[in-house]
Amino acid sequence: MLREATRVLQTAEVPSPRVDAEILLAHVVGVARPEVVRRALLGQPLDEAEHTAYLGLVDERAARVPLQHLTGAASFAGLDLAVGPGVFVPRPETETLVELAVEAATGLDDAMVVDLCSGSGAIALAVKHRVPSAQVVGVEVSPEAHAWALHNALRTGLDVEMRQGDARAAGEELLGRVDLVTCNPPYIPLGAVPVDPEVRDHDPQVALYGGSDDGLHLPIAMAARASQLLRPGGVLLVEHADTQGETLPAALDAQRVWREVTDHADLTGRPRVTRAVRR
Ligand SMILES: C[S@@+](CC[C@H](N)C(=O)[O-])C[C@H]1O[C@@H](n2cnc3c(N)ncnc32)[C@H](O)[C@@H]1O
Repeated sequence: MLREATRVLQTAEVPSPRVDAEILLAHVVGVARPEVVRRALLGQPLDEAEHTAYLGLVDERAARVPLQHLTGAASFAGLDLAVGPGVFVPRPETETLVELAVEAATGLDDAMVVDLCSGSGAIALAVKHRVPSAQVVGVEVSPEAHAWALHNALRTGLDVEMRQGDARAAGEELLGRVDLVTCNPPYIPLGAVPVDPEVRDHDPQVALYGGSDDGLHLPIAMAARASQLLRPGGVLLVEHADTQGETLPAALDAQRVWREVTDHADLTGRPRVTRAVRR
C-alpha cells in the first residue's frame, strides 16, 4: 500500500513522495507516523473505509493539493496549526524569524508585540508560546485567513488578539509604544509565478505578491508602518525572499528611521530576515 502510494506520488513529481505517503496514511488511520509504518511493514491491512479514504487523499496529493490542506494541519515552531484553503501554509524557514523575535522579546517586561500580515497566526502564536509574558496582536487583511488565525488562537489556547484589517494602518492606539514588530509580508516579485503547483494554485494570491517588480512594495510599506508603531529602540523583523537580502536592508536604510540594519540567513544558509532597530 505504502509502496504503491509512493510510486503514484513519485510519478506526479511530488517532492517527498515516501514521507507524504506515510503522513497521509497516518492521518487516515489516526496514529503516529512511526506506528503506521510499523503496521505497514507487518502487512496489517486497512479496513475498507480507510482504504478508500487513503486512495482519495493520495490522488489529491498527486494532483499537487498541499499535504497540509489534506491533513488540515501544519507544524510550525512546535505548534500544531489548522490550515486549509484561504490561508498561507506557514513555512519552516519562517521559524528563523521566530527565533530572532524570541531573542528580541525575552527579558523585556510584558513586551508589546505586533505581527503584521499574520495569515494563520503562525508567528504571533509562536512568539506568545515562547514568551508567555508578551502581549501579542496579529493583523491580517484577508477575512478568510483571519478566520483561520482566530481558530488557531482557540486551538492552541494562546491569548493573542487577532485583528482584521490593512496592516499599513494597523494599531492606531499603539503608535510609538510597540517593542517588537514581526512581519512576513507578501514579497514575490510581480510576474515571478511560483513553480510549485502547491504554492501557485493553493496559497492565496494576496499572500504571495509584493506589489512591484522587485516584490518590495508591500515589505517597505509594512516597514514604514512599523516605524510608526515602534518606540525608539524597538525592533523590526521582516522576512524576505532569498534574492532580497541586500535590497530590503538598503530600502530600510533609505527610510532613515532605522539603525543597526542587519540581514540574517535561515537554516539552509539563504538570506531570509532583515532586522532593524527604531532610532
Ligand atoms: C506570506 S503570508 C504570511 C502569513 C504568516 N505570517 C506566516 O508567516 O505564515 C502574507 C500574509 O499577509 C497578508 N496580507 C497581504 N496584504 C496585507 C495587508 N495590506 N495587511 C495585512 N495583511 C496583509 C496575506 O493575506 C497573507 O496572509
